[in-house]
Amino acid sequence: MDKIVIMGPTKLKGTVEVSGAKNSALPIMAATLLTNERCIIKKVPPLRDVNTMIKILRNLGVKVQFEGSRLAVDPKGYSNYVAPYKYVKEMRASFCVLGPILAKLRCAQVSYPGGCAIGNRPVDLHMKGIRALGADLKIEHGYVVAKAKQLKGAHVYLGGAFGSSVLATDNVMMAATLARGKTVIENAACEPEVVDLAEFLTKMGARIKGAGTHFIEIDGVKKLGGAEYEVIPDRIEAGTFMVAAAITKGDITIRGARYDHLGALIDKLQDAGVAIARHGKDIRVRVLRSLKPVDLTTLPYPGFPTDLQAQMMALMAVIDGISVVTEKIYPDRYMHVSELARMGAQIKLEGDSAIVKGVKELSGAPVMASDLRASAALVLAGMAARGRTDISRVYHLDRGYDRIEQKLLRLGANIHREKEE
Ligand code: UD1
Repeated sequence: MDKIVIMGPTKLKGTVEVSGAKNSALPIMAATLLTNERCIIKKVPPLRDVNTMIKILRNLGVKVQFEGSRLAVDPKGYSNYVAPYKYVKEMRASFCVLGPILAKLRCAQVSYPGGCAIGNRPVDLHMKGIRALGADLKIEHGYVVAKAKQLKGAHVYLGGAFGSSVLATDNVMMAATLARGKTVIENAACEPEVVDLAEFLTKMGARIKGAGTHFIEIDGVKKLGGAEYEVIPDRIEAGTFMVAAAITKGDITIRGARYDHLGALIDKLQDAGVAIARHGKDIRVRVLRSLKPVDLTTLPYPGFPTDLQAQMMALMAVIDGISVVTEKIYPDRYMHVSELARMGAQIKLEGDSAIVKGVKELSGAPVMASDLRASAALVLAGMAARGRTDISRVYHLDRGYDRIEQKLLRLGANIHREKEE
């Protein structure tokens, strides 16, 4: 296993290019299971999660070629309908192959996802939506077994205890593209990645209206064709670099990000006193004065993304004063708190909130990554901390960040990867 070693503190400076969005690429790859024709997906980030999805597709009988960031998928004639436990346990996004396989092959068998470091993550909304389209769904031997001679359009309300669900919206939207008649998804997730998937499906010949709002309407069609498509830039990666500029009091230009996808983060960083300027397709993030504490609550898009909560908490840990984080998507997503505490952060958990009392400086320490975004928070903290930070279990980081240490190295970080004894 690898670990990442950082010597801090560093002031990051320079320009960094954002990769394509992992959370768009994964459901778009799943959507290719709806057609018999070849699809080309561009700007696919070469990440562990993408590799897991490639393994799932290949295991189903789909031909996949991945060169650079260009993915060619040829699903012609695939007939296996099982997504096995060994892949789904690696990545919960695997579950979004259920809708497309079922719609195409009339049956699907997808491993029921297991637990996850960021808390309980059920799939009841996925199942509710797919059942509403007329499928028979059972849980057998750890698998969701779905059958439907012909899916039928329906009106489905997809709100759960924590609001809308991104992948449940994706799953039901994909299944509905080949259902007979009209489907309306009410309380649909509005995330940019849902819009991206809808655009890809539309290119394949699907008839979808309202993606990006809480009501998505899908008119089923008989079949879908191949498509060529480029995924949107990764707003979470871009956001992580923006916070990296803030925590290191640096000056970073982020190239290729979508400013309009980052509203909640930009607002919070500006409230804290970070200078953010837009120059064409570049976003320049600088710290010109001392920062002020801020409070934030994670919410579905366009609210503050839960996937940037840990990174922002690392920043709050070094802003003088009290900041409060409230997590409304995954109330237990606080695994990073005890690791940040090992670096000297003062954070107290109260229910679904974390009260952060800023300290002057963090101090480098050996820490352990618990999940994808928590590991990014530790990398940011390590660059701001004095001394050496060793982050173990970085395979979490490799699930979602494309060559992060190389990108940070180019921005001036003192960072490298080592084999862990
Ligand atoms: C996606 C993202 C993930 C992000 C999350 C929330 C991908 C590949 N992953 O995950 O990075 O953190 O959105 O923005 O796009 N829920 C239910 N029942 C369900 C499904 C979800 O109760 O059937 C709950 C979840 O436990 C959570 C909330 O709904 O509390 C939102 O989760 P959801 O939007 O589904 O997350 P994912 O789509 O799995």
